[in-house]
Amino acid sequence: MRKPLIAGNWKMQNTVSETIELLNSLKRNLIDCNEVDVLVCPPYTSLSDANDTLTDAGISLGAQNIYWEEKGAFTGEISPVMLKDVGCTYAIIGHSERRQYFGETNETVNKRIRAALKADFTPIVCIGEVLSQREAGETLNVIGNQLKEGLAGFQKEDIGKMVIAYEPVWAIGTGKTATPEQAQEVHKFIRDWIKDNVSDDISKELRILYGGSVKPSNIKELIQQPDIDGGLVGGASLDAASFVDIVKNSL
Ligand code: PGA
Repeated sequence: MRKPLIAGNWKMQNTVSETIELLNSLKRNLIDCNEVDVLVCPPYTSLSDANDTLTDAGISLGAQNIYWEEKGAFTGEISPVMLKDVGCTYAIIGHSERRQYFGETNETVNKRIRAALKADFTPIVCIGEVLSQREAGETLNVIGNQLKEGLAGFQKEDIGKMVIAYEPVWAIGTGKTATPEQAQEVHKFIRDWIKDNVSDDISKELRILYGGSVKPSNIKELIQQPDIDGGLVGGASLDAASFVDIVKNSL
């Protein structure tokens, strides 16, 4: 049985004090929520304080990106060692906003995953098609290619440590959620791809999250799909009440 994972991607939102306030509210309201893994990914500037705030809270901390070198002259980047130092155990990799605005490719995604695994992070590998690709009937080809190139060269054991997030780009921040059937079709494709290209047992264990306008009102029907194991939540994770409701509705 795969335990649900609800991850909040806060993107470039919230100062340190706003982060602490939101986390304290999540802590108060999620005390008994042991059947769901809960993760928050605040911006880098808040990670250290977030880590202090989350002591013994049962909520994991993640980074929104991770670089592949440990240190050096890489202005603006942040290394696995630094992220580990502030308590991160997960890293979002290849988010569509990184791909769209910051030149992220399947090759750089692959390098980041490698570095993340080497430092014992759980990578959350994001994949998804843009609207024109969906309309042209290319969704599954795009997803297959992102998996093939992004996961190239990894051993079965490595892939077993990952989480995949399917995020149709046209559904991110638009209020337009994929229907449960649309999402399930792609999630099943991903799981079958892992079964065919990695192994049957890893495909059964792998957690595949859906992301793209997840809300308290739609998480239930999404997570009821056989191959959807949780959510990567942007906008609705910035409000404590709605994030708590998403976690509770995913049981
Ligand atoms: P959204 O973002 O929930 O605001 O659509 C999801 C994401 O970008 O991970």
